[in-house]
Amino acid sequence: MFSRPRRNRKSAAIRNMIQETHLGVEHLIYPLFLVNGKNVKDEVASMPGNYRWSLDLLLKEIEECVKLGVVSFDLFPAVDEALKDQKASYSYADDNFYLHAIRKIKETFPDIMLMSDVAMDPYSSDGHDGVVRDGKILNDVTLPILSKMALAQAQAGVDIIGPSDMMDGRVAEIRQTLDENKYEDVSIMSYTAKYASAFYGPFRDALDSAPKSGDKKTYQMNPANKREALIEADLDQAEGADMLMVKPALAYLDVIHLLNENYDLPITAYNVSGECAMLYAAAQNGWLDYNQAMPEMLLSMRRAGASAILTYFAKDFAKLIKS
Ligand code: PBG
Repeated sequence: MFSRPRRNRKSAAIRNMIQETHLGVEHLIYPLFLVNGKNVKDEVASMPGNYRWSLDLLLKEIEECVKLGVVSFDLFPAVDEALKDQKASYSYADDNFYLHAIRKIKETFPDIMLMSDVAMDPYSSDGHDGVVRDGKILNDVTLPILSKMALAQAQAGVDIIGPSDMMDGRVAEIRQTLDENKYEDVSIMSYTAKYASAFYGPFRDALDSAPKSGDKKTYQMNPANKREALIEADLDQAEGADMLMVKPALAYLDVIHLLNENYDLPITAYNVSGECAMLYAAAQNGWLDYNQAMPEMLLSMRRAGASAILTYFAKDFAKLIKS
């Protein structure tokens, strides 16, 4: 026997020396949920350890995260039902608490990376990512709404815009609007291959943003398709996206790998709410070891080719490597 792969595993020193993939807190983006109000810290039932925060407490939470080394965040708004309408007009309203929070967060922590969400669903009385008419999700009439939302977020000071809606042509439309208004330095991380997945359930609980009727299958991708992700990636690259995201992550590692092999832009992955909820539940039952399974899950996404990972595990991972 000339070849004994075990020789390369015989000590921690050797294993670490030849380790191929690394995972650090700098690779992680922490999604945070914001509600209007004061002194609110409301746990999301299906995601223990994750909260809907009011801005005052969120600022303290961000400070704590920064101390742990987490410096990248993606903010999502949970909007009062009374403020929702069919055109998501609250999404770019002057008195919008989400835009106010972006401003305040960037003022308080100028050096962090703050990413926003562009999609109608948190503000839509229909709970869809586009305008609904006669049961159909309309593409082209949605684009100007997304552009206005993105511009308002850029004006508030966000670093990266995250269009999560899957309308055709939205990256070009947003890029053009940002550039026309002199926000050429604001980046776009496009939700490039976003699948119509059952793993978004806990997130929709957190934001109360589930579709009121129908599903998202006419705009989000079919989980059975991989080649189609290349079409989406071609378009997003041509339309000016800075980073290409695959979502979900754990169940779509092959798609992360495919995009990483075919594109020179950074590939990012969204380790979505349902993927994290599975591990929270198994750990609570004593069926899996959280502190071992969690970094293994994240490492698999890095190994598949993700540069950065959006994950609800970000803070726990940071604590784990500190300890
Ligand atoms: C909606 C949006 C969703 C998520 C991020 N943005 C849900 C959906 O498409 O219904 C899901 C994130 C998660 O599950 O963690 N624009």
